[in-house]
Amino acid sequence: MVVGKNRPTKITVNLRNLLSNLRAVHERSGCEHAFAVVKANAYGHGIYEVSSYVREYVEGYCVAILDEALFLRSEITESHEVLVMGIVDAKLASLAARNNVSLTVPSLDWIELALENLSEGETLSVHIKVDTGMNRIGIRDLDELREVINFIEASDKIEIRGVFTHFAKADSLDVTHYEMQKRNFLAALDVFEDLPKYVHSNNSAAAIFDDENDGVTNAARIGIAMYGLDPSNGDVPVPLKLKDTFTLTSEIVQVKELAKGDKISYGCTYEATENEWVATLPIGYADGWIRKLQGGSVLIADGFAEIVGRVCMDQCVIKLPHFYPVGTTVTLIGTKGNARITVDDIAAREETINYEVICLFNERIQREYFR
Ligand SMILES: Cc1ncc(COP(=O)(O)O)c(C=O)c1O
Repeated sequence: MVVGKNRPTKITVNLRNLLSNLRAVHERSGCEHAFAVVKANAYGHGIYEVSSYVREYVEGYCVAILDEALFLRSEITESHEVLVMGIVDAKLASLAARNNVSLTVPSLDWIELALENLSEGETLSVHIKVDTGMNRIGIRDLDELREVINFIEASDKIEIRGVFTHFAKADSLDVTHYEMQKRNFLAALDVFEDLPKYVHSNNSAAAIFDDENDGVTNAARIGIAMYGLDPSNGDVPVPLKLKDTFTLTSEIVQVKELAKGDKISYGCTYEATENEWVATLPIGYADGWIRKLQGGSVLIADGFAEIVGRVCMDQCVIKLPHFYPVGTTVTLIGTKGNARITVDDIAAREETINYEVICLFNERIQREYFR
């Protein structure tokens, strides 16, 4: 993707805060190892910069697709554990093995096919995924799990490096489903004669909200909380201080004084009710600043300014309290003086969760890093 290096819209990522969040959440998890979840361009923060910055601290990385894992192998590390948590086509087992990328085993069928696709001398490392109640991917049936383990043990081309599960509801005050999944995971672990090196279930929510480590889980897969955000969307009190990592700013590129009755942007959905100063910002829905943000706010020097008219593909318009010159900095997410717009505020306006907000900011927006 072409990066907008010559446009004043930018994301500033505070890597120091990010690492501090990672340490805090890891310590709270009670797990020996921390895996940084850096899929989806490190939740919009930049996979290269985030992964390199936390490299000395983490045991490994978790991603969603094989290409992300291959990127980490070629650009970041030859030695760390790199796990693809999604299902990779079993025909690509050889490519993963050659690059020492661990794949997820979701079923017996999958591992049988993966073995067929390994060549002489190749070893594929895998983490077996147990579906304990998320019902997305993984093995539900303990007999199938036993068969998978036996099948792998009978082969000299596959190494079980981990076993894991994923929680559907670790971010809620109602822990019924969560506790059920924990019990199911412990039952699945009983099927193993010897546990693999990595046993992992904690995502950010489980790491933060669950005070009790089950004594066997030894790795935490930390995503959203490393990026300074509450996994529960405010539903559960966060018992530690997460620091902001993400700021989005732009600059005014044109200023106009409208007369009463003038209309703004596609569909003419906003009409000036008096003489009004408005300004254009070079950011739009193609960057992840979506149309639902019409009617929301940004921050200029002396407070909030409303986003008026439809958000376009590459631009949007704000209403100013008075004239500001071209080049004035505008904060779309972040702090200015005493005022603040958070990712959660944007999520509320977009009627979604903080995860989606940050992932939607694509690579067209340039990123700057505060180390
Ligand atoms: C399997 C799995 N583990 C861990 C994570 C990280 O979750 P979080 O960002 O809530 O920490 C995800 C994220 O979606 C995931 O899919």
